[in-house]
Amino acid sequence: MHISRLRDGLFVFGLTLGLILPLGSSLAQQRPTFSCTLPDGSAGGRAAYSRIVGGTNADWHEWPWQIAIQFDNRHGLAAGQPRDFIHMCGGSIIHPQWILTAAHCYQEGTGADNTRIWYGGNRVGAGGQAYDIAEVFTHPSFNLHTMADDLALIRLVQPMQNLPRGAIVQLQTTAQERVFTPTGTCSVVTGWGRLGMEEQDISALLQQVDLPVVDLQTCRRAYQGRGEAEIHDNNICAGYTQGTRDSCQGDSGGPLVVPDPNVPAGWTQTGIVSWGIGCAEADSYGVYTRVAPYIGWIQATVSSN
Ligand code: ARG
Repeated sequence: MHISRLRDGLFVFGLTLGLILPLGSSLAQQRPTFSCTLPDGSAGGRAAYSRIVGGTNADWHEWPWQIAIQFDNRHGLAAGQPRDFIHMCGGSIIHPQWILTAAHCYQEGTGADNTRIWYGGNRVGAGGQAYDIAEVFTHPSFNLHTMADDLALIRLVQPMQNLPRGAIVQLQTTAQERVFTPTGTCSVVTGWGRLGMEEQDISALLQQVDLPVVDLQTCRRAYQGRGEAEIHDNNICAGYTQGTRDSCQGDSGGPLVVPDPNVPAGWTQTGIVSWGIGCAEADSYGVYTRVAPYIGWIQATVSSN
């Protein structure tokens, strides 16, 4: 409900500006004011979403592009033998037959033949619909050590049927990113990942959490000398200096979205859950792959396959 209220607010905001501003005024002036707030109110601004780690149960209808990638634990058994699908990663629908996710999801013996896409509800794996995967395209420059170019595209065997309105998420271009995703923008990440470092289990219910976008310099400083993974120019970081809210294991590949009043869904995807040290710890932001720099690769891959 928080979300529809937010959405209505944005809509009204967008409309009002549209009426007041002279024609031809720039998109920049329509940027919504939506700020992230910790439960104690320390980050200022209005209350927004408060699990993931530190978020709340999400209404799946609000994030209709969210899918789960499942791994078949019993792959290789004879046909007709029972399968055991376990949650592996998140992802988003960018075309009826294509899913955007993280490249690191497809390491260690996972591929098109032993994974599948699950779609259609809050409770992962319950009801909904499963889709077989034809091919996985990990970005050719993905590097598991530095975590550069952590994105992948998945082509389904069949296009998804009867997708609800708004199920195909819009990806941010660099122009939209400049306007709608500056430092401090309140973003939202969704997924069925772990609810905390001590809780080994993934979440049964889809979670959402709001996180401010953090500038790369601050993020680089926070991760300086803490391992091989680097913060690249094609990353976006989000989170709080004090931690408490974050994406976590199992959320990888899922979407980080920001409000955009110019698109019907009210949100555009700006990032893909990539990595972090721990989850929701102080001075350890969540690191996301920006989508904007890869629009060309995404379009080329989808149109030539
Ligand atoms: N690499 C993790 C995954 O495979 C996602 C980690 C995100 N971590 C974070 N602290 N934001 O699911």
